[in-house]
Amino acid sequence: MAAGSSRSIVIIASFGISLVVGLLLVLGLTGGFRSVTAPSAIGGPFQLTSHLGETVTEKSLQGRPSVIFFGFTHCPDVCPTALFEMSEVLRALGPDAKRVNAYFVSVDPERDTVAVMKDYLASFDPNLRGLTGDPAAVTKMISAYRVYAKKVPQDNGEYTMDHTALVYLMDRAGRFVKPIDLKRKPEEVAAELKNYL
Ligand code: NI
Repeated sequence: MAAGSSRSIVIIASFGISLVVGLLLVLGLTGGFRSVTAPSAIGGPFQLTSHLGETVTEKSLQGRPSVIFFGFTHCPDVCPTALFEMSEVLRALGPDAKRVNAYFVSVDPERDTVAVMKDYLASFDPNLRGLTGDPAAVTKMISAYRVYAKKVPQDNGEYTMDHTALVYLMDRAGRFVKPIDLKRKPEEVAAELKNYL
C-alpha cells in the first residue's frame, strides 16, 4: 500500500474523530445531553392517594400542566415556604388554577397519612393536592422522579428528612419540562405556567 493512501486514511480518520469530539463538545456546552435525556429520565407510573381521598396516577397528569413538589409535613421551613409560594402562584392564576395540577408529594409516608396531609393542606391554597400512599408506592414515585429523600435521625428520637427541594414542571402530556423557579413574583410564575395550559 502506498504511503499516500495510508496518509489519507489517517487524515480521514482524524477528521472523523474531530467531528465526533466537536459534536460532543457542542452537546455538552449547550446542555444538549440534558435536554435529550431528561424528559424520559424524570417521571413514570405511580399511584397515590390525595388528601381528599382521590386516587392520583400518572394518567392524572394528562391534559393539563402539573407542578409537583416533594416534601413532608414535619419539614420546619423549606416545604412550608415552597407550598406558600405555590399557593401564591395558584392565587395569581385565578380561575386558571383549576386547569393546573399542583401536587405536594410526601417523602415521609410513615407519618404523612391521608388525615395528616388533609390537616396540613388546610393552611394552603385549596387547589393544592397532597399525595401520599404506602411506603412502597411513594418509593416508586420518588425513584421515577429521581428525587433524593433520606431519613435523618434526631437527638429526641424523632427523625427529619433530607430531600430534593426542586419543583417539577410537567407539560400537558405528563412529560417533564424543567424545574420551575418559585423564587419570583407569583404573577411572573403564573404567566409562565399559562404558556403550558
Ligand atoms: Ni422540606
